[in-house]
Formats: sequence, structure tokens, C-alpha cells
Amino acid sequence: MEGAAARERRHDGVPIDNRAAELAAGLQAERACIDPKFLYDAQGCVLFNAICELEEYYPTRTERAIFEAHRATIARALPSRIQWVDLGCGDCAKSRAWLGHVDAYRYLGVDIAADWIRREVAALGRQFPQISCVPVEADFSGDFDLHGSLDDPQANPPVFFYPGSSIGNFSPERAIEFMAAICREAGPRGSLLISADLRKDRRTMERAYADDLGVTAAFNRNVLRVCNRVLGSDFQPAEFAHEAVFDDVHGRIEMRLRAQKRQWVQWGASGRLFESGEAIVTEHSYKYTPEQFDGMLAAAGFSVRNMWTDPRSWFGVFLAQR
Ligand code: AVJ
Repeated sequence: MEGAAARERRHDGVPIDNRAAELAAGLQAERACIDPKFLYDAQGCVLFNAICELEEYYPTRTERAIFEAHRATIARALPSRIQWVDLGCGDCAKSRAWLGHVDAYRYLGVDIAADWIRREVAALGRQFPQISCVPVEADFSGDFDLHGSLDDPQANPPVFFYPGSSIGNFSPERAIEFMAAICREAGPRGSLLISADLRKDRRTMERAYADDLGVTAAFNRNVLRVCNRVLGSDFQPAEFAHEAVFDDVHGRIEMRLRAQKRQWVQWGASGRLFESGEAIVTEHSYKYTPEQFDGMLAAAGFSVRNMWTDPRSWFGVFLAQR
């Protein structure tokens, strides 16, 4: 998604106590869980970037191919003098490929870590001196709020760019809320350019989250080290097995860490007993049919919807307008 440093800063953007309290609450829930945002410390970012290169992990390269094949068509469908709003901009790499093809007068790089994105967005501004490049600090795990950074959307329609199928980490209900908030900010001529991973055969999806080299397993277990650091717990990552299963009912990959033996995990004056075979849920990654995602865009208030896909229909790039 983004470079390693981006994620580390994201992480550090959240106050320490809140992070520890959030982790403790999830770990003590009846079904233990850890929010996927904790997967991305510096080590997690390196592992995620390695995942993106795996033969089994198709989303990154499939999205890139769709963007490359249809960039001109998509750019033509956008209004002129736009404000390009890069949601989760990280190192701005994906937007860099677009800015030469769209008529943008302004670029807003939105991410959780202000100091780091300020540097990245400044570098982008030097590459595109005709575009006014602005960093915006925002965390969209809570309410979507750009803190008034958008210029008048009537005069300069915003294009919200949310690539990488990151929307898949939200539940469908939360995803609709998030896209509805974007729709409200977009104004009458605004658009949303967003990617979603599409539903396909179970084996292809499960292999993408359980690769032969064990990179995703390492990425998943690393979250226990994050717990040990942030919460002060004494998890032994090797005592938990990586699992990724497609849940047909919910239409999502569920990633878990399953205790290989009965064990007590301690933090501060607190802790939890994990029975042998008990699991911690670490991520949901939703897979939609084009019709389902279209329906979600409609529920969020968008009416014009176009989709571009790859020859196997594995991944969808959606352009939605009011
Ligand atoms: C970054 C959320 C899009 O769900 O495919 C990759 C994260 N997890 N392998 C995804 C992820 C395990 C990824 N997203």
C-alpha cells in the first residue's frame, strides 16, 4: 500500500495509551481480535511490501495492470481543474502515476502522520510545480473529516482516490458509511475512484493470504510483537499458527492466529488465557461481486458508476459520480 516508513508513522500518529487500551479490549473480547491497523509497524510494512511481490498475491499487480490499461479513459471521464484527494497517500507513489494524466490544480495527500506526509507531499509538489500540493492529517478509522482542507467543491470538483482495495478491511456497513461521507464532501461534480477486490474461486483467494513462503504468516504473527511492544504483553509468536480462510457467508477472508497450546498471556496486571485451538482474528478482507460493490456505491449516494477490470475479472476499479 505505502512505504514502510509511512505505516510506522501512521502507527505512531495514534497516542500510545489509546493503542494499548484498544489492544487490551480486543484481546479480552470473547472472540479475541486485533485491529488490522496494528499489522503495519516498520517490520509489518516491509513484510506487506514483500507480500505485494508474491506470486500468490494478485491484487497489487492486477490493479497496476488495470490502471495502466485504462488510465487515459478514466482520466478523460474526470472533470477539469480538479482537486485530487489521495486517501492514505503514504509515499504518494500511486498518485504520481496519475497526476500527469489528469487536469489537477490541487493535490491533497491525506494520511495519519503529518510530519512524514509533509515531506512526501512537498517532494510531489517539486515534481508537479503547477499543482498546489497540500498534506492533510486525518485518520479514517474514525469519522471521515478533512478538517476543511478542501477548496470549494463547486468550483474545483474533488476526485477522491482510494486504491489498493483498502476498503475491504471495513465491514460493508462501515464501508458504505465511509463512502457516504466522501459523497457528502464531493459536491455535485465530485467523484470517487476506488478499487475493490472481487469474489473469485476460493483457492485463488485463500492462496493469496497463505503463501507457500510463509510471508503472510510472518506478517500476521508480527502483530503479536507489536502487542508486546505497545501493550507490554509476553506473546510468543511461534506458539500461534497463521490461518486465512474464506468465509462464504460474509464474503471475506478471515485472517487468524491460532494458539497451538494452552497458554496464559500477561500484560501489566492483566492478561488472558488462550485455550489450545483458540484463535485471535487479525483481519477481514472483503471480496465483492461487481454488483455488490455497485450497490454499496449506490447506497452511499453515488449514481453514475463505471467499472474496469482485468481479463479474469479478479479486481475492480470503480469510478463513481453523484
Ligand atoms: C492492504 C488491506 C488491501 O486485505 O489484501 C494482505 C492486506 N493482508 N495480506 C488485503 C493484506 C494480508 C491487504 N490490504
